Amino acid sequence: MAIRTILEVPDPLLKQISAPVTVFDAELRTLVSDMFETMYDAPGIGLAAVQVGVPLRVLVIDLQERDKDAEAESCGDEGCGHDHRPVKRTPRVFINPEILDPSEDYSVYQEGCLSVPEIYADVERPATIRARWQDLDGTVHEEDMAGLMATCLQHEMDHLEGILFIDHLSRLKRSMALKKLEKLRKAA
Ligand code: NI
Repeated sequence: MAIRTILEVPDPLLKQISAPVTVFDAELRTLVSDMFETMYDAPGIGLAAVQVGVPLRVLVIDLQERDKDAEAESCGDEGCGHDHRPVKRTPRVFINPEILDPSEDYSVYQEGCLSVPEIYADVERPATIRARWQDLDGTVHEEDMAGLMATCLQHEMDHLEGILFIDHLSRLKRSMALKKLEKLRKAA
């Protein structure tokens, strides 16, 4: 496994449309394990292959939510209000994903992206979807998704079409976000 370099705006490859996966081989497994390592290291909750320079329809997602069944670990400050339950890893791979049935009702999440570092903005997307995808063996799966999982999958699927979350913002908000990013880079 290896950590790969994450491309950032305005890298032209991020605008490229990713090609379907047709060969489910060892090279694909290596790509996926590298993508997980890169995503956990960043850290982030989702990554598309094109973000590490491989324009194939491959996504990894791990929402890394708190483990509801686990005992909270104390931070020594009773009643600090934070969730001290350990984070549970649930790595998921989506190859050649499709959205079958987006809902008419929308939900809003504050999104960020490893290719647009330090920038966060509210994006509206269908609240529930039915998704179809293939796993590393090429087996087809279908599942109804809601909440953060539905939003995250849609964000990652946008990458396969060369779309970033800032492309969903108004022109003004988008240029403000890019200016802010430029300033942060200069300061760094
Ligand atoms: Ni992203």
